[in-house]
Amino acid sequence: MADKLIIFDTTLRDGEQSPGASMTKDEKIRIAKQLERLRVDVIEAGFAAASPGDFESIKAIAGIIKESTVCSLSRANDRDIARAAEALAPAARKRIHTFIATSPLHMEKKLRMSPEQVLEQAKQAVRFARNFTDDVEFSPEDGSRSDIDFLCRVLETVINEGATTINFADTVGYGVPELYGNMLKTLRERIPNSDKAVWSVHCHNDLGMAVANSLAGIMIGGARQIECTINGLGERAGNTSLEEVVMAVKTRKDYFRLDVGIDTTQIVPASKLVSQITGFAVQPNKAVVGANAFAHASGIHQDGVLKARDTYEIMRAEDVGWTANKIVLGKLSGRNAFKQRLEELGIELESETEVNAAFARFKELADRKAEIFDEDIIALVADEQHSH
Ligand code: KIV
Ligand code: ZN
Repeated sequence: MADKLIIFDTTLRDGEQSPGASMTKDEKIRIAKQLERLRVDVIEAGFAAASPGDFESIKAIAGIIKESTVCSLSRANDRDIARAAEALAPAARKRIHTFIATSPLHMEKKLRMSPEQVLEQAKQAVRFARNFTDDVEFSPEDGSRSDIDFLCRVLETVINEGATTINFADTVGYGVPELYGNMLKTLRERIPNSDKAVWSVHCHNDLGMAVANSLAGIMIGGARQIECTINGLGERAGNTSLEEVVMAVKTRKDYFRLDVGIDTTQIVPASKLVSQITGFAVQPNKAVVGANAFAHASGIHQDGVLKARDTYEIMRAEDVGWTANKIVLGKLSGRNAFKQRLEELGIELESETEVNAAFARFKELADRKAEIFDEDIIALVADEQHSH
């Protein structure tokens, strides 16, 4: 049996850190319910200590969601952790996710703490979190820019304290797939108790490599959890896109050989809901969820797809929640696509000569108009029939 890949969605936490994407409690509940329909394994519902509003949202979600684990982020201190535990109390399954920065830059300039102090704080935090749940995740923030020897010490310590998931954070999107994957592999090889925890990837998209880095973390590094968000929402340039990693792993199962529990038909509804609530439009050419992801405009492609969809489609639009693929009629379209649309519209022309004449008029119109709609075709054929 293939290993399972755990999908940890952080749309409601890291996604909300996207400037301008803040959400109300009711909006968060609607998204959480959709994430449960999507069957994500873990929903990071927020950061309980960040604000009373975040606390209330997590608490409400924890009371409603039954199938997914509900998680709250917390800094590595008792107050944050206790607040997370309180918000998560109603949850059927709960996880506390605690983090502290481990890179020299963050420790010195931001935390103003020595490495030894950071190590001790990480240890105490995980120990304290274990009082509330057996499911404790630890993230070394800015992990990919941390010293590997120090990271080994911190991670070995927190696993000994009972951390069950170790999330290797590429906080500023600095990773390059091969290097990020290999760093994770080295950590897992060097830490003696590494097999006591599930390893996770958390990548930001500053250089547009969040998805590639996450997948390298799985294939090279052996991670079995991916942290991601709907539409790749998140701090700065965003996080790893859930829809992209899920469909990559599913479509190329021949290579990844991992099982994912996601109901992919809920992907597009989730994308639309998040876009509508946050007001962040999805770019048309975005993989999987963009309006053009399954649209064919060129004559050669349209002809191929009409004969056999696999010619230009590696996934089915219907499998990710679109109603169908799209043949966009425009100046690049061929006669076959035009004829097919006439049939779909129930328009019967008497002869091939009439089809040819209508097609010629369609091409003239398409030179003036970027996209031809069904109404244009109906009008064009009616004109043609009138002129005879
Ligand atoms: O990017 C990051 O480092 C985070 C951590 C809190 C996991 O979001
Ligand atoms: Zn992050």
